[in-house]
Amino acid sequence: MEKILLTGSNGFLGSHILSKLLNSNNFDFIKNITGIDNFISSNKSNTDINNPKYTFIEADLIKFDFDQLKDFDIVIHSASLASPVYYNRFPLETVDIATSVTRKLLEKCKEWNSRFIFFSSSEIYGNPSSENIPTTEEYKGYVSCQGSRSCYDESKRLGETLCYIYNKEYNVRTNIIRPFNIYGPLLSIQADHRMIPNLIKSALKKQPVSIYGTGNQTRTFCYYSDAIEGIFKVIRNGGDGETYNIGNDKPEISMVDLVKLFRKTVNIDLSYQLIPYPEYYPDDEPIRRLASIEKAKKDLNFFPKVTLEAGLTKTWNWALKK
Ligand SMILES: NC(=O)c1ccc[n+]([C@@H]2O[C@H](COP(=O)([O-])OP(=O)(O)OC[C@H]3O[C@@H](n4cnc5c(N)ncnc54)[C@H](O)[C@@H]3O)[C@@H](O)[C@H]2O)c1
Repeated sequence: MEKILLTGSNGFLGSHILSKLLNSNNFDFIKNITGIDNFISSNKSNTDINNPKYTFIEADLIKFDFDQLKDFDIVIHSASLASPVYYNRFPLETVDIATSVTRKLLEKCKEWNSRFIFFSSSEIYGNPSSENIPTTEEYKGYVSCQGSRSCYDESKRLGETLCYIYNKEYNVRTNIIRPFNIYGPLLSIQADHRMIPNLIKSALKKQPVSIYGTGNQTRTFCYYSDAIEGIFKVIRNGGDGETYNIGNDKPEISMVDLVKLFRKTVNIDLSYQLIPYPEYYPDDEPIRRLASIEKAKKDLNFFPKVTLEAGLTKTWNWALKK
């Protein structure tokens, strides 16, 4: 694990992965980390890192010539259009980054004999029936292949299929991570448009939070430090070809209750309004999303520690200082 290639290095999770790789004593043995990003959904905050171990390449991975790279020990493919508003705006780019770019990276991993970590998503499960909640890695998904959400769900599913093929046919050592609603500092409050950044943006502007639909849709949220710990456990100890849900298994909370919990926890005056799904928001929003993390608990000793109240407080305090 001496040379690491990280795609999406300026994104929310990419930035935290990079920071851990560069700043933790546990990774002193790493000689080089190369990050690639084109800022399609992020800003340039990481590009000025002054660390001799770090090389940043500003490039669109869809058009990138991977032959200019050499011999990485591990490739972490985190680049994506991860926020619903972005994948609705850039559907073909969303498909390409999860499929054709994944395939090109897997080809390189085959050539370099390197590990490949693919960031998939809890969205690949679609809208699980009640008996499949909490949702385990075995659940095959209930997803539409036609609709404005399909570019994300279906391309992540095909990205997983590519990992499966390269693992079985060419012995590429792959791991798939399915994150479930991770949040915390470095999320782009103004531009990300996922629920927690939206909540904080409204609170900062002292405006009501808009909740789409009934507000009864539920999620479990995982604070970034717990998620990053889980991600590194997969990178270090993930079984060959294995897939892991990384997120939190409690509490399952509706969007309306999330707003109420947030305003009570950080002690602010914040109202909400239920509005119809706007045009820019993809159809088929999952009604319930609750991670089963039993596999990561058992195989990787992954136990998220930060409560939702503590994580919201830390994220709010960070946003206030920005
Ligand atoms: N954060 C979560 O809760 C969550 C949930 C499910 C899945 N995921 C997955 O985890 C990964 C990281 O998520 P995130 O929250 O950090 O997303 P993010 O949107 O913050 O970061 C993604 C990064 O990829 C870059 N990117 C996209 N297309 C690119 C291209 N063609 N060329 C170069 N760079 C490109 C973007 O500019 C951005 O910096 C993604 O693959 C996402 O689908 C995240």
